[in-house]
Amino acid sequence: MPESEEMLLASKPVSASQIIYGQLMEPPQANVYGTVHGGEIMKLVDTAGGAAAIKHSGRICVTASVDRMDFIAPVHVGDFLHVRASVNYVHRTSMEVGVRIDAEELVTGKKRHVASAYLIMVALDEAGRRMAVPALIAESSAERRRMEAAAERYRLRQELRVRAAR
Ligand SMILES: CC(C)(COP(=O)(O)OP(=O)(O)OC[C@H]1O[C@@H](n2cnc3c(N)ncnc32)[C@H](O)[C@@H]1OP(=O)(O)O)[C@@H](O)C(=O)NCCC(=O)NCCS
Repeated sequence: MPESEEMLLASKPVSASQIIYGQLMEPPQANVYGTVHGGEIMKLVDTAGGAAAIKHSGRICVTASVDRMDFIAPVHVGDFLHVRASVNYVHRTSMEVGVRIDAEELVTGKKRHVASAYLIMVALDEAGRRMAVPALIAESSAERRRMEAAAERYRLRQELRVRAAR
């Protein structure tokens, strides 16, 4: 993509990419121990992360990497999962999306943080070519803090990719 075309992309605030959705955990999602399978949680994370990246870029996006996926507490059948995702940082064609999942015990209303992840999503055009994405505007101090931390992770990931390619 020519640099001039990249310059025409209008910047977007973090809030424009925000995804919030929920899902009840049911018996088919459980593993043999009766808690929810990690793969079910990963699918929710990838779906939310992809949706946030598509909202920011206005393009089809693919997951290039799951930089980190922390399972903080077990999820039980009957828990209602609140999934939140938004873009933390953008570079040229890639975006880091942060995803957080909280589980709510519906009977008591008690919520606990059960998982968090950082995904690297890349925007593509219809022919599958990588596309530049709009710049990201951090409006709150929390968004600015996340953006700075994500910029540092981008730098570290690039170092690791260069080293791995040697
Ligand atoms: C993601 C993909 C398009 C990247 O292609 P590539 O040839 O490695 O592209 P580049 O090296 O030019 O990298 C493009 C951007 O992605 C980032 N990137 C690519 N692979 C990455 C990785 N493993 N980790 C972190 N960032 C990565 C680069 O830093 C670059 O970001 P920038 O343009 O913002 O600086 C390609 O690897 C692909 O199609 N993968 C399969 C995606 C898929 O099918 N996902 C679903 C799996 S379930």
